[in-house]
Amino acid sequence: MAKSRIKDRRRVADFWTRKARAENFPARSVYKLKEVDDKYGLLKPGRRVLDLGASPGSWTLYAAERVGPAGRVVGLDLQPLAREPGPGTVFVQADALDPPLDLLTGYGPFDVVLSDLAPATTGQKSVDQVRSAGLARGALTLAGALLKPGGWFLVKVFQGPEADDFFKELAGRFKTVRRIKPASSRSFSPEIFGLGLGFKG
Ligand SMILES: C[S@@+](CC[C@H](N)C(=O)[O-])C[C@H]1O[C@@H](n2cnc3c(N)ncnc32)[C@H](O)[C@@H]1O
Repeated sequence: MAKSRIKDRRRVADFWTRKARAENFPARSVYKLKEVDDKYGLLKPGRRVLDLGASPGSWTLYAAERVGPAGRVVGLDLQPLAREPGPGTVFVQADALDPPLDLLTGYGPFDVVLSDLAPATTGQKSVDQVRSAGLARGALTLAGALLKPGGWFLVKVFQGPEADDFFKELAGRFKTVRRIKPASSRSFSPEIFGLGLGFKG
C-alpha cells in the first residue's frame, strides 16, 4: 500500500482520537455508538442499557448521558473502567462468556444491549474472526435472556464467514437487522456492527 494512503488513514484516526480527548471520552470508539444512536435513536431518556465490553468506558459514559437520571446503564468487562462511573451507572467486572446472570437479571430487563466486546487479536485473521464471533454469540445469548421484547441490540463482530453465520442467527431473533460500518471505524479494521431492531422475545 502506498505510504500516502497509510498516512491518510492515520490522519483520520487521529481526528477521532483528538475529538475524544477534547470531549473527555476515554476512547474514540464512542463515535461509532454515537453515529448509530443518531441514526436509529437507540438511547432515549429513561432507557435501561447493558453495555458489554465496557472498558475503558466511552460507551458507558455516552449511554449514561443519553438515558439520563431516569435511566440506568450497566457496564460489564473483564477490565476495570478508566474512571469511576457516575450515579445511575453500575459496573460489573466479569466475563461476558460466563456472566453473573442473577446479578444482571436484577438490573434488567433492558431496553438496549450493546456489545463492543473484542478479543485480544493474534494477527491470525481466521483465529481472530472465530474469537470475535464467539464473543458476539455470547452477547446474543445475554441479550436473549435480558432484553425486553421489542428491544434493540448493537453488536460488534469481525467480518468473515463466522460473522455471516452470526448475522443469520441475528435475523432469527430480531424483526429487522442492519449491517453497519461506522464512519469512525478504521477502514482497515475487520469490525462491523450488527444492529437488531425489535427483539422477538
Ligand atoms: C474495544 S474494547 C471496548 C471499548 C468500549 N466500548 C469503550 O467505548 O470504552 C473491547 C473490550 O472487550 C473486553 N472483553 C473482551 N473479552 C471479554 C469477555 N470475555 N468478557 C468481558 N469483556 C471482554 C475487553 O476487556 C475490552 O475492554
